[in-house]
Amino acid sequence: MAGIKNRPVGADAVLKDIADIRTEYQMAALDEVTVGDDPVAFFTQWFIEAQKAELSEVNAMTLATVNADNIPHARVVLLKGLEGEEFVFYTNYDSAKGRDIAANPNVCLMFFWKELERQVRIQGIAGKIAAEKSDEYFHSRPDGGKIGAWTSPQSSVIPDRNVLDERYLQYEKEFANKRIPRPEHWGGYGVKPVSIEFWQGRISRLHDRILFKKNEEGVWKKMRLAP
Ligand SMILES: Cc1cc2nc3c(=O)[nH]c(=O)nc-3n(C[C@H](O)[C@H](O)[C@H](O)COP(=O)(O)O)c2cc1C
Repeated sequence: MAGIKNRPVGADAVLKDIADIRTEYQMAALDEVTVGDDPVAFFTQWFIEAQKAELSEVNAMTLATVNADNIPHARVVLLKGLEGEEFVFYTNYDSAKGRDIAANPNVCLMFFWKELERQVRIQGIAGKIAAEKSDEYFHSRPDGGKIGAWTSPQSSVIPDRNVLDERYLQYEKEFANKRIPRPEHWGGYGVKPVSIEFWQGRISRLHDRILFKKNEEGVWKKMRLAP
């Protein structure tokens, strides 16, 4: 802790106690029979349960990418659809994540539903979805979000907040009383899973972990991992 300057009042005591923060998980168990043979179907079941439990931001997932220099990045995005086996999210194709995916389509998605003591980790290959699908979703958004997609050069350095406000007003004027088109630089990615791991917290850190991996014939194989 030494060497950190300008610490807020009370920070020392809080930081000292971090090591003592822990939860004992005991809500549920997970076994090989319950997960079945289709991890996407089982993901859907857990997603429904998370929704029924009224978790906030139930579709928020951490997306990890790797750039052309093998440097990893992670950020939260929203799951907006499950098309067959593909996990779909929307973003700016010119953003940092868009550039990472163009250089390396291997990505990881991670859900943490803490109230259910569950984590799902999905490794897969990301690719742009069909333009018509992106159009369809884009046009279902409120106008503010559509103009926002035109306004923000996502992940670029900008001089100040005013730039965004000015660009927003400019596009608002440009598209007044018109159908706002989807910018080419904005759309969806679908992640085709190659492995999916379900984690259920258990007592004494002996959690249940069931991993599905797709083999060369495209068949899901399941295995249990040590916690
Ligand atoms: C709850 C939450 C949901 C988000 N959903 C999205 C999303 O669906 N799409 C998106 O591009 N960014 C989303 N963001 C913002 C991203 O986390 C990130 O800041 C942004 O996409 C830029 O990432 P990048 O510079 O790594 O490309 C969300 C952030 C939070 C906290």
